[in-house]
Amino acid sequence: MQYLILFLTTLASAIQLNINSQDDVKSAASTIAYDMMTVYTGNQSGQVPGLLPGGLNCNPNNPGTYCWWEAGAMFGSLINYWQYTGDTSYNEVTSQAMQWQKGADDNFNPANQSRSMGIDDQAFWAFTAMDAVESNFPAPAGDAPSWLSLAQAVYNFQQDKWDTTTCGGGFHWQVFSINAGYNLKNAVSNGGNFQLAARLAYVTGNSSYADWAEKVYSWMDQSKLMQHDPTTGVLYIWDNTDSNNNCTDQTNFVWTYNYGIMLGGAAYMYNYTNGSDVWLGRVNEILNSTYSLFFPQEYGGNIMSELQCETQGLCNQDQRSFKAYLARWMAVTALLVPSTAATIVPKLAASAQGAAGQCDGGSNGRQCGMEWFTATWDGSTDVGQQMAALSVIGSTLNRADIAPLSQAKGATSESDPNAGQNAPTDPTKEHGPVTTADKAGAAILTILVVVLVVGGSIWLVI
Ligand SMILES: *[C@@H]1O[C@H](CO)[C@@H](O)[C@H](O)[C@H]1NC(C)=O
Ligand SMILES: *[C@@H]1O[C@H](CO)[C@@H](O)[C@H](O)[C@H]1NC(C)=O
Ligand SMILES: *[C@@H]1O[C@H](CO)[C@@H](O)[C@H](O)[C@H]1NC(C)=O
Ligand SMILES: *[C@@H]1O[C@H](CO)[C@@H](O)[C@H](O)[C@H]1NC(C)=O
Ligand SMILES: *[C@@H]1O[C@H](CO)[C@@H](O)[C@H](O)[C@H]1NC(C)=O
Ligand SMILES: *[C@@H]1O[C@H](CO)[C@@H](O)[C@H](O)[C@H]1NC(C)=O
Ligand SMILES: *[C@@H]1O[C@H](CO)[C@@H](O)[C@H](O)[C@H]1NC(C)=O
Repeated sequence: MQYLILFLTTLASAIQLNINSQDDVKSAASTIAYDMMTVYTGNQSGQVPGLLPGGLNCNPNNPGTYCWWEAGAMFGSLINYWQYTGDTSYNEVTSQAMQWQKGADDNFNPANQSRSMGIDDQAFWAFTAMDAVESNFPAPAGDAPSWLSLAQAVYNFQQDKWDTTTCGGGFHWQVFSINAGYNLKNAVSNGGNFQLAARLAYVTGNSSYADWAEKVYSWMDQSKLMQHDPTTGVLYIWDNTDSNNNCTDQTNFVWTYNYGIMLGGAAYMYNYTNGSDVWLGRVNEILNSTYSLFFPQEYGGNIMSELQCETQGLCNQDQRSFKAYLARWMAVTALLVPSTAATIVPKLAASAQGAAGQCDGGSNGRQCGMEWFTATWDGSTDVGQQMAALSVIGSTLNRADIAPLSQAKGATSESDPNAGQNAPTDPTKEHGPVTTADKAGAAILTILVVVLVVGGSIWLVI
C-alpha cells in the first residue's frame, strides 16, 4: 500500500488541470508561476532587480540568457496572474523590477540597456506598466513616478523616432541609427508603439493618442508589413521590411506575438471608439487570420501553435515566449470586443488544457514544453514556455470584472502627458561619442541580427 501511494505521488507531479474548476486553474497557475520564478534571482542581494539571467548581455540563440524585454514581459504576466488569482506573492518583486528598470530618465531606457535599445523592447516594459494601470496594481511608494507616467514617457520618447525619410513613415527596430538592425522597420516595433498608443487612448480618453494609433496602423496596413491574400482572406503580418530599399520587400515570417499585439491594439481602439465598424473589421480580420495560421486544423483547430519553429524545435529563447502574448491579448479582446468571445473562449480553453498537458517535464517532472497539441513533453524548458503556459491557463479565469480599467472606470494611476519630455534622445548624451569599439561591436551585432531574425525558422511561401 505504501509503495502504491508513493508511485501515485510521483506520477502526480505533472500539472493536473480540469479547466472547468476555478480552484484547479488557480492551483495550476500558481505552480507554473512558482517554477517560472525559480529562474529569477534579481531580488537577491548583489543582483540587478528586473533582469533575468544574462540580461546585461543576452543572445536569444544562447540558451539560458534572457533579453531585457522578455523580463519586462514576464513581470506583466505576473500582474495578470495576480489579477486572475488574487495571489499577491509576486507583486513586490514586480514593483521593484519596474522601478529599477525604468532607469534614471523614468522612461524604460536604463543606461545598461539603452545602447542596444529597440522600440519593441521599450514597448514591452511599457505594456507591463499599462497592465499595472489597467488593474490598479499598487502604486509605487512616495513620490516615485506613476505607472501611467512611465508608459507616457515611453510614448513621448518614441514620438521623435517616427521616420518619414524612408518608406513614407514607420519606426525603425532600433532606437539608435548606429545599431545593427536599424535599417529594419519591423512589425513588433511599429505594432508595439501602436498598441501602447491605443491603450493610452483607452485609459486616458485623450484623442491625441488615438489619432497616433490610427496613423501607425494605417502606415503598417499600407506597407509590406501587412498583406492581404485576396484568395484565402488571410492577413499576413510579416516580421520586417527593409528601409535600405525603401521597404519594397519583406521577410516572410509570421509570429503569434505580432498578431497578438495588433489584435490587442485594435481591440482597445474598438472599445475606445465605442464600437467603430472600422476597428471591428480590423479586429475580425486579424482574429480570423490568427485562427487560420496559429490554430492548425491538424491539432483540432483550437490549440495554439508557433507555426514557424515549434514542431521543428527551432524556436529561440525569445520565440519560446511569444504564445504568452497572443493568449493574453486574445483574452483581453474577448472582453473589449464582446462579439469575439464566442470564438476566443473555446480556443483559449483548449490551448490551456493542452499547455497543462505539456507541463510534465524537466527536473521536477512538471516543467512546461511548447507543443501544446501533445501530452508528451517535447523536451524543452524555459522561462518562455512557463510564461506562455501561465498566460494561457490564467486567461481562462478572465472575467468581466477584471476588464482593463480606464480613468473613466476607476483607474487611479496619475496621468502626466509630458512625462519624460526632458529625457535625452541622443545616445552620445548617455555614452559619449561613438568609438571604434562601438563600431566593431555593431558589426558583430549585424551578423547576430541576421542569424537572429532568420534563425532556423521556416520561410513562408504563399
Ligand atoms: C525573491 O522573490 C521570491 C519570489 O519570487 C521569494 O521567494 C524570495 O524569498 C525573494 N528573495 C529575496 C532575497 O527577497
Ligand atoms: C546596471 O549594471 C550595473 C552593473 O552590473 C548594476 O549594478 C546596476 O544595478 C544596473 N542598473 C540597472 C538599472 O539595471
Ligand atoms: C518610398 O516609399 C514611399 C512609401 O511607399 C513612397 O511614398 C516614396 O515615394 C518612396 N521613395 C522612393 C525614393 O522611391
Ligand atoms: C493629450 O495627449 C497629448 C499627447 O501626448 C498631450 O500633448 C496633451 O497634453 C494631452 N491632453 C490632456 C488633456 O492631457
Ligand atoms: C464614447 O461614449 C462616451 C459616453 O457616451 C463619450 O463620452 C465618448 O466621447 C465616446 N468616445 C468616442 C471616441 O466617441
Ligand atoms: C471572420 O470569419 C467569420 C467566420 O468565418 C466570418 O463570418 C467573417 O466575415 C470574417 N471576418 C473577416 C473580417 O474576415
Ligand atoms: C468595452 O469593454 C467593456 C468591458 O469589457 C464592455 O462592457 C463594453 O461592452 C465594451 N464596449 C463595446 C462598444 O463593445
